[in-house]
Amino acid sequence: MESNKDIYILAIESSCDETAAAVVKNGRTILSNVISSQIALHTIYGGVVPEIASRKHIEKINQVINQALDEAKVALDDIDAIGVTYGPGLVGALLVGVAEAKAIAFARKIPLVGVHHIEGHISANYIENKELEPPFICLVVSGGHTHLVVVNDYGKYEVIGKTRDDAAGEAFDKVARAIGLGYPGGPKIDKISKEGNPYAIKFPVAKVEGAPLDFSFSGLKSAVLNHINMCQMKNIEINTADIAASFQQAVVEALVSRGMEACEMYGMKKFAIAGGVASNSAIRQAFAKECEERNISFYYPSPIFCTDNGAMIGVAAYYEYINGVTHGYDLNAVPGLKLGERI
Ligand code: KG4
Ligand code: ZN
Repeated sequence: MESNKDIYILAIESSCDETAAAVVKNGRTILSNVISSQIALHTIYGGVVPEIASRKHIEKINQVINQALDEAKVALDDIDAIGVTYGPGLVGALLVGVAEAKAIAFARKIPLVGVHHIEGHISANYIENKELEPPFICLVVSGGHTHLVVVNDYGKYEVIGKTRDDAAGEAFDKVARAIGLGYPGGPKIDKISKEGNPYAIKFPVAKVEGAPLDFSFSGLKSAVLNHINMCQMKNIEINTADIAASFQQAVVEALVSRGMEACEMYGMKKFAIAGGVASNSAIRQAFAKECEERNISFYYPSPIFCTDNGAMIGVAAYYEYINGVTHGYDLNAVPGLKLGERI
């Protein structure tokens, strides 16, 4: 590899309900980040319908890639490697991105780099924090994942805590549905909570026996449902904003306590958050305060880089590429790909 040459990665993300592509220069400069969201399409069903997601990806993918190249003012000839999410995610959705990336890599004779979706989320922190280097601890909170991770180096991850049941985003989405806010629940709970009292109802913050860094959100979700049932039975008016704010407060407490405990246990002075739920304003505020009190540097991506996007995949692909990790044309979608695993 020539040492002073700029490296351009074209990255593709299609693991769930966003068709996304980006061009990333030298790992941390985002030249374009195009996201075609399917949220409106899935809203009427109250959640993502896998087959609809796959069909929409196939319709949109070339358009999104063309736009990403145009906005970056580069041609396929300028691209050094193709990065693509190959897991975890919905298999049919992943296959669209993987097949597209393989086709481009094959046609242009350029390297193919399969990226772990969650490693992409973590890497989103490198975009706006140019000084951030591993090691650090990252809390990944998305629709499907809640993981506490030690980022030992680029591409070297150690999971030190995870959810035993629902992911944080899943809890937001389910509670939002229960209180009639609809899908996707996270941003709606975030917004309405600003009008509610976070201490109006004391919801439980579950601890996992013998695993201080693990999470459990299913009890919290049930507690919210029980509260609503109790109000209905006793003819007490349901205050949606108070329920939302109190639920959100319980999630904040669970995340902050484990996050700070992890920093303490590992003697780490750098802490980052990532994933769709990391764009939650109460979560960001609480971590900023707690980290400041402990003299820990706190990192978080802008909301556009928290939810699914191609830029984060391009960043992760860059570090894989410069470390010599590439894939063959037999790359397949791996819906249950584990963090740190290389297939
Ligand atoms: O990372 P992401 O876009 O997709 C996955 O990889 O899962 O995360 C989507 C999740 C959804 O559950 C959504 O409700 C949640 O992130 N989310 C939020 C907020 N914005 C998105 N949760 C809480 N507050 C938000 N502001
Ligand atoms: Zn995601």
